[in-house]
Amino acid sequence: MTFSRIAGTGSYLPKRVVTNTELQNRIDTSDEWIVSRTGIEARHVAADHELTSDLALQASRRAMEAASVGVEDIDLIVVATTTPDMVLPSTACLLQDKLGVRQGTAFDVQAVCTGFVYALTVADKFIASGSHRCALVVGAEVFSRLLDWSDRRTCVLFGDGAGAVVLKASDTAGILDSQLQADGSQAHILCVAGGIAEGKLRGNPYLEMKGGDVFRFAVQALDTGARNMLARNRIDADQLDWYVPHQANLRIINAIADKIGLRPEQVITTVARHGNTSAASVPLALDTAVRDQRIQPGQLVMMQGVGGGMTWGTVLLRL
Ligand code: ACO
Repeated sequence: MTFSRIAGTGSYLPKRVVTNTELQNRIDTSDEWIVSRTGIEARHVAADHELTSDLALQASRRAMEAASVGVEDIDLIVVATTTPDMVLPSTACLLQDKLGVRQGTAFDVQAVCTGFVYALTVADKFIASGSHRCALVVGAEVFSRLLDWSDRRTCVLFGDGAGAVVLKASDTAGILDSQLQADGSQAHILCVAGGIAEGKLRGNPYLEMKGGDVFRFAVQALDTGARNMLARNRIDADQLDWYVPHQANLRIINAIADKIGLRPEQVITTVARHGNTSAASVPLALDTAVRDQRIQPGQLVMMQGVGGGMTWGTVLLRL
């Protein structure tokens, strides 16, 4: 039987950092409000010329270097993004060209903040089927472009960035289990309903969010998803080496950790410095903790995402 295993991780953050102090000088908010409600202190924002595929390119190169694979090895590219460079073609195809990969399969996955967890699970199943052997799985976003920067209820929460992993065929199991879920009846609590159609702006092109509803949904979905994953693999929470959750809000992360019985030292959090980078948040947090050597080869990791759709998902893996 063929399994898949993460062979290398990488990430990239745009240079420009927007602090809460900068925001409080621009809109009616405060560092105290943002930190106490979300744990966010700063976020990175892409330069005007930077596209999602540019952020993805940097993260991908770092992941490929860490995995010691070249462009000739990659036979599958899956990009999770809510902010593609173009309506078509896919950002995965644009990334393939920028990387100089000339073979294989490339497509995007859209599950908003759960995007990377969806993409990783899809790539795992391609590899397990035997059809592909070396995948580049990327979460990349320029979410700043979906925000109304005068709307204090949403603009303080998000940032831009990219994270990537190389997932290779292996005789031993890396990805141990995964579960992806969706509830389309909750589409209205987090959406961008408008956009350009027939060359005209239709509706609101910026993110709309019912913050309280999203908060409650996220806590309930991640709590149930985590318990289910642990139970069906007969694992106690304290046997996990690391929990790498979607980085939306420190209060959501702490609530889940508390509910499933994780110690703070098992939880990776980057939300203070990155904000919510949507599909990029889980691979960015993973790469941060791999590079600072907290997460070590062979350790047991549970990753979770939750986001628009609503969608949510859990992956259990051995690094
Ligand atoms: N600065 C100052 N005041 C603010 C700000 C701000 N940035 N944003 C909202 N307020 C005000 C509101 O206007 C409101 O004032 P009012 O009572 O005079 O109308 C007051 O603060 C309270 O607003 P609430 O929305 O009730 O604040 P709450 O305590 O619920 O916190 C928050 C809002 C942080 C958005 C919270 O609901 C939350 O974290 N929700 C989850 C949202 C999330 O994480 N979204 C990310 C995308 S989805 C995902 O990734 C899972």
